[in-house]
Amino acid sequence: MANTVIIGAQWGDEGKGKIVDMLSAQSRVIVRFQGGNNAGHTIRVKGEETILHLIPSGILHEGKICLIGNGVVLDPEVFLREADHLKARGIDVSPARLGISKKAHLIMPYHKSLDKAREAKRAGHKIGTTGRGIGPCYEDKAARVGLRAGDLANPELVRQKVRHALLEKNVLLRELYKYDTLDEAAVCDELLQLAPRLIPYLTDVESRIHEAVNAGGDVLFEGAQGIHLDIDHGTYPFVTSSNTVAGNASAGSGVAPSRLDRIVGIVKAYTTRVGSGPFPTELLDDTGSYLRSNGHEFGATTGRPRRCGWLDAVILRETVRLNGLTDIALTKLDVLRNLPALRICVAYDCQERRFEYLPQEEGALERVTPVYEELPGFEEDISQCSSFADLPAAVQTYVRRIEELTGVKVSLISVGADRQQTIVR
Ligand code: IMP
Repeated sequence: MANTVIIGAQWGDEGKGKIVDMLSAQSRVIVRFQGGNNAGHTIRVKGEETILHLIPSGILHEGKICLIGNGVVLDPEVFLREADHLKARGIDVSPARLGISKKAHLIMPYHKSLDKAREAKRAGHKIGTTGRGIGPCYEDKAARVGLRAGDLANPELVRQKVRHALLEKNVLLRELYKYDTLDEAAVCDELLQLAPRLIPYLTDVESRIHEAVNAGGDVLFEGAQGIHLDIDHGTYPFVTSSNTVAGNASAGSGVAPSRLDRIVGIVKAYTTRVGSGPFPTELLDDTGSYLRSNGHEFGATTGRPRRCGWLDAVILRETVRLNGLTDIALTKLDVLRNLPALRICVAYDCQERRFEYLPQEEGALERVTPVYEELPGFEEDISQCSSFADLPAAVQTYVRRIEELTGVKVSLISVGADRQQTIVR
């Protein structure tokens, strides 16, 4: 299958879980390279649903090796809870097939407190974070004061780093945010209590990827969130705190960029967004509500209703050029059924100018007017279609138009939540 990177092409929640799950079947090793348990991948196999926030969803495939790369921020409790949950379902989560990079940073209780305290204080201009401590953990990484998974084997280092962190964080929590402070000994003891269960999972992720690549490849790099939540290229400041672009598969896992062969962008057949931030094609009317209810658009991580809107080819074009997409996997096409017409935003207008790519100034996206193209809708149930030729003409036209607008082939089409409901072209 070659070494493949999967990324979300929009603002996350494109249905990556299902596609990752499918491609995992053809891979030997599956690697997460950024984000943390702010992600939520829902996979449905034979009617049974599993939501994974941290552990790569490839774990559901027997015998596959799943690795958590250095670019991930890892909440130790969440990792163990997910592992326990999977184990209770009879899934092998032994260290032989599940590993954590010693360089991955740990999300600490003070990161979660700061995330929540800051959001509460940002009244009126909230980012709408998931509150999982993701941003504050990456901040400590960049500030070079973070705890890394490998530190768990050195209790003295853990205590020293926690002491140093709390010196500053407790002042912020108490004085600035009027929030509960954290007790140094309790934070250390709780973490060190979990250490014996986590240490066996610590591994040299780079070497394991390198060996797999040299043995013939088939490594799958599973991105989280979406390209327009990227810390640099996304709709800053309404973004997550990591690079979600495919290039980070390399930095976030230790694989050389020249070893990556295929970049698959997951595109939802319409657009959704959770949290705050600009969204030019957002529908605040009945069509938006229809997409939300028909597409079950409620966050897998926070349960928040997702904002819904028409497909936006401008953000997709940007995704294509930032990531060098080789293929598109189009998801949730069935959700568009019974809409009288389908719209695709093909450009933006702003102050007498037409944009085919995103304007770069902060806040500019709030001021654009989408330019729409209208295509026919469809009434047929497509959830059982198993080939492109089976799809009604209007659906084929919609898919082909996406290919024209992005210049990328749509090689997979998902017409329902189950693994089987996928058309491979
Ligand atoms: P954070 O990643 O928790 O800091 O949240 C920053 C922004 O990214 C917020 O708007 C979140 O709603 C959004 N976000 C984070 N993770 C995901 C995801 O997996 N899917 C969609 N949006 C996400």
